[in-house]
Amino acid sequence: LKPGSSKKDQILERENRTQDQEPGHVLATPTGVKIDHTDDSLKAGERGPTLMEDFHFRYTMTQFDHERIPERVVHARGSGAHGYFELFEPQAEFTNAKVLNDTSRKTPVFVRFSTVQGSRGSADTVRDVRGFAVKFYTDEGNWDLVGNNIPVFFIQDAIKFPDLVHSLKPEPHNEIPQGQTAHDNFWDFASLMPESTHMLMWILSDRTIPRSYRMMQGFGVNTYTLLNDKMERHFVKFHWKPVLGVHSLVWDEAQKLGGQDPDYHRRDLWEAIESGNYPQFDFGIQVVAEKDEHMFDFDLLDCTKLIPEEQVPVRWIGRMTLDRNPDNFFAETEQVAFCTQHVVPGIGFSNDPMLQGRNFSYLDTQLNRFNGPNFNEVPINKPICPFFNNLRDGFNRQQINKGKVNYWPNRYANPRPATEEDHPYINFPEKTEGMKTRVRAPKFKEHYKQATMFWNSLSNVEKDHLVAAARFELGRVDDVRIQTRQIENFLNVDHEFAKRVADGLGINVPSQAVVQNHGRHSSALSQLNT
Ligand code: HEM
Repeated sequence: LKPGSSKKDQILERENRTQDQEPGHVLATPTGVKIDHTDDSLKAGERGPTLMEDFHFRYTMTQFDHERIPERVVHARGSGAHGYFELFEPQAEFTNAKVLNDTSRKTPVFVRFSTVQGSRGSADTVRDVRGFAVKFYTDEGNWDLVGNNIPVFFIQDAIKFPDLVHSLKPEPHNEIPQGQTAHDNFWDFASLMPESTHMLMWILSDRTIPRSYRMMQGFGVNTYTLLNDKMERHFVKFHWKPVLGVHSLVWDEAQKLGGQDPDYHRRDLWEAIESGNYPQFDFGIQVVAEKDEHMFDFDLLDCTKLIPEEQVPVRWIGRMTLDRNPDNFFAETEQVAFCTQHVVPGIGFSNDPMLQGRNFSYLDTQLNRFNGPNFNEVPINKPICPFFNNLRDGFNRQQINKGKVNYWPNRYANPRPATEEDHPYINFPEKTEGMKTRVRAPKFKEHYKQATMFWNSLSNVEKDHLVAAARFELGRVDDVRIQTRQIENFLNVDHEFAKRVADGLGINVPSQAVVQNHGRHSSALSQLNT
């Protein structure tokens, strides 16, 4: 084993699943047959025809024909890096997760940063949310923290995600526009969804044109839970803070770089790691005891709200260092499969309806992206801890399970269910009750206080940038009725802000603020329909 290689690498090498490109190897087919000629296909005579029996040609071409897999339905454009996580202080008060208790461990991680809207080949510096997904290879299984660089989200319920993504992807009839958030469909949808207002303020700020992946924050966004040995549960929000500080491009730079160097962020991350400038991020938790769940003027289960740090300070408890570039983009960065449902003992979910829906969506989409259930056997996804189960077969099964039985219970008592000493995953026995209904909880219906708080927190320069971004983005909307409806919505945030945007668009400030109701019973919608 190479000195300095990580624990995960050591395991992969041992299992003969990595391959170095050293001089001296002989070309062979995937079945191991050595090949002496790879520049001409096998033909009957110098001028053909080409022969079907040329298995080397057929493997060469078939593999190539099948090289592409579907890109992610969102976050298709991304860049990855390996690294490790170190814990400063044990967190036994809140959780019995070993990764958050043992300060002697260096837990291997793989991180993928991404944009959301664009396709795999799109430019890095567009105005967009950035994904910040971390896979911790813990000794108790993989824990995926699938976050973004903005602490809140557009919508409150997962059922709206397909609508949101349809509205922000290129329009369906002509695939225009690519690479920007601004177009009629997106603002049509957003202006009818008042819950998106807080996120819109962040989107229009400089946060969505980061200078580098090394210089942006990360947030779990949804509320998760921590469980300790006493079976006490706490709500938790997860945070990442870059050691280099948070920095953005200015819009003019972002635009130019998009044309001159569409790989700007990918290159920056790669070169920083190659030159030993390892990106580092502090890891933090905001913890709320279960008894305090209802003490806020917003609902902890509503991911369009953050927990103000004045109310619950962030405890900075660890640090992540990214110190190695992937060896192969496809095998690692493209095939990595994150899922909010990948948690370890001591970490659980809340009833946030977005998180609950995400828990379904990631596995579902990956069954499509990887043509079946065996993607967790791909090296980048495989846990580093030993594990046994009765899951079998499927396309491209790698694992060779020996033995006669593949069910439980069985005469060998193997693999047996874990006992308490094994520290198994505990699903917290939470009491649930209520009417079966589609109604949202009362505190979910307030959409503006935190949007206003965000606006008020900005310096004058930051406000100028936000106004300029809103003018630019809404300025590219063709339908003045959509622009007006968005200004009516922004009037709920701040009058001066709404007026400055309206002035820039050359439209009159609407006479009053309007709170839309998802397009239902809305006078603005009936006007649009006429
Ligand atoms: C990727 C669904 C909300 C962060 C994805 C993917 C899907 C998805 C289907 C593609 C996964 C793949 O192909 O491997 C959803 C749904 C959401 C939601 C249904 C709302 C109900 C969010 C939120 C965040 C987020 C709130 C941030 C906290 C990410 C990230 C990725 C991703 C970072 C890319 C992961 C990677 O790098 O492979 N999401 N998402 N998503 N999502 Fe979400």
